[in-house]
Amino acid sequence: MSHVADAPQTRELDIQKEYIEKIKQYGAGKLYNLNTYGCQMNDRDSEKIAGMLGEMGYSETQNKEDADIIIFNTCCVRENAENRLYGNLGKVKVLKERNKNLKVILCGCMMQQDIVVDKIKQSYNFVDIIFGTFNIYRMPGLIFTALETGDQLVDIWKEHEEIIEDLPSRRVFKFKAGVNIMYGCNNRCSFCIVPFVRGRERSRPMSDIIEEIKNLVSDGVKEVMLLGQNVNSYGNTFRPRVSFASLLHEINKIEGLERIRFMTSHPKDLSDELIEAIATCDKVCKQLHLPVQSGSNDILKKMRRIYTREQYLELVKKIKARIPDILLTTDIIVGFPTETDEDNEDTISLMKEVEYSNAYTFIYSKREGTPAAIMEDQIPENIIKERFNKILDMMKPITLKINRKQIGKTVKVLVETVSKNDKNLLTGRLDNGLLVHFKGCESLIGEIVNVHIDDCKTFYLMGTQT
Ligand code: SAH
Ligand code: SF4
Ligand code: F3S
Repeated sequence: MSHVADAPQTRELDIQKEYIEKIKQYGAGKLYNLNTYGCQMNDRDSEKIAGMLGEMGYSETQNKEDADIIIFNTCCVRENAENRLYGNLGKVKVLKERNKNLKVILCGCMMQQDIVVDKIKQSYNFVDIIFGTFNIYRMPGLIFTALETGDQLVDIWKEHEEIIEDLPSRRVFKFKAGVNIMYGCNNRCSFCIVPFVRGRERSRPMSDIIEEIKNLVSDGVKEVMLLGQNVNSYGNTFRPRVSFASLLHEINKIEGLERIRFMTSHPKDLSDELIEAIATCDKVCKQLHLPVQSGSNDILKKMRRIYTREQYLELVKKIKARIPDILLTTDIIVGFPTETDEDNEDTISLMKEVEYSNAYTFIYSKREGTPAAIMEDQIPENIIKERFNKILDMMKPITLKINRKQIGKTVKVLVETVSKNDKNLLTGRLDNGLLVHFKGCESLIGEIVNVHIDDCKTFYLMGTQT
């Protein structure tokens, strides 16, 4: 039966491949400038966009002035992500006036909102192509048509059942890679726009994921980051059902792969089976991103997170008891409608109790169309700022304490880059996600080396290669 299901995908890809061939006459020697906002989902999509442009003969430039195509892969999770796009579009307008052949493309989550597309059509009519999150693979056809006709093209789908894979892709790192295991989200957190712009949950078949990772490994990849808005519900729609834990066990068997990370896990359905899988699979990193959002039961309820503070803390206890070395990270939203100072204190006390190694703290941003946007008692900005700063100040000693505990250990480190601030230092990551700087030569990038941890600052460790 599988060939029947495969047929539309193969046909679609063939059509796009023909467009890629046709565009080569325009693309050779031309340049594209790609700007990506948002999360790892968008990073991964941008690798596919870059891959397709590469096949069309285009090369990348960091400089917008030199580009023949400028692309913005957008995010709308918070208002400031959207504002960044509008700020940049103002500048691009000037370039477009100077160079009529320049093509401007907008895609990604923001474009899945009708009000955004309407605004762009009205106020930024120099934009050439708009597409959304469900039909990236159609970009070659859209570019070809825009080049031939000069028309403005808008191609947004509201939902898409089928998952089109096997797109060419230009990976940013040689040694690590993001791998989509599922798309969309079936949860309805009341503050969140993601389900509206990424659609319903669809999991990729396990065999496709395994094959992709095997190919990545034979291409030199040592670490994979499995991507999904809620990886715990991986496989829920399959009959028979397949669990995320069983996927981890299968990936753990892949020879040559060294590290497996994943995000994001929703606390409401993190199973004992998953805790067991993290504990027993040697390649699964002992780090868990487990966003709590708030420590107040009242706010959690209004956020529709489906767990209480007590249930969350119980879960953390269980995880730490089974995997004592594990480090937890979280996301926090400050200033959700109706939030009081006491609610914020509840968040702070929960954070102290859990001792996160890192907390991504966000100021609540009202998203049109979400239930929270019409809640009364939106919190004034100055109060939110105060609560936000309080959380950041509280986190520093905790982060420092966790880093201090590493001093004296010799640990395995995947070397990622040359340090931004000191060319003589390399930056790498421990299995538990902590960052370390140590002296070493650039050729070690992508290697796993042993490092002795000598010292630490609040946000990183200092070490010596052994
Ligand atoms: N699927 C993931 C989160 C994806 S969005 C999960 O459920 O954990 C990443 C983070 O952005 C969220 O965890 C939340 O902390 C933050 N976020 C989402 N919507 C937001 C909003 N309207 N305002 C502020 N932060 C928001
Ligand atoms: Fe948004 Fe909640 Fe889905 Fe995460 S789980 S993407 S926060 S709706
Ligand atoms: Fe942003 Fe879309 Fe990710 S809204 S956070 S890029 S799923």
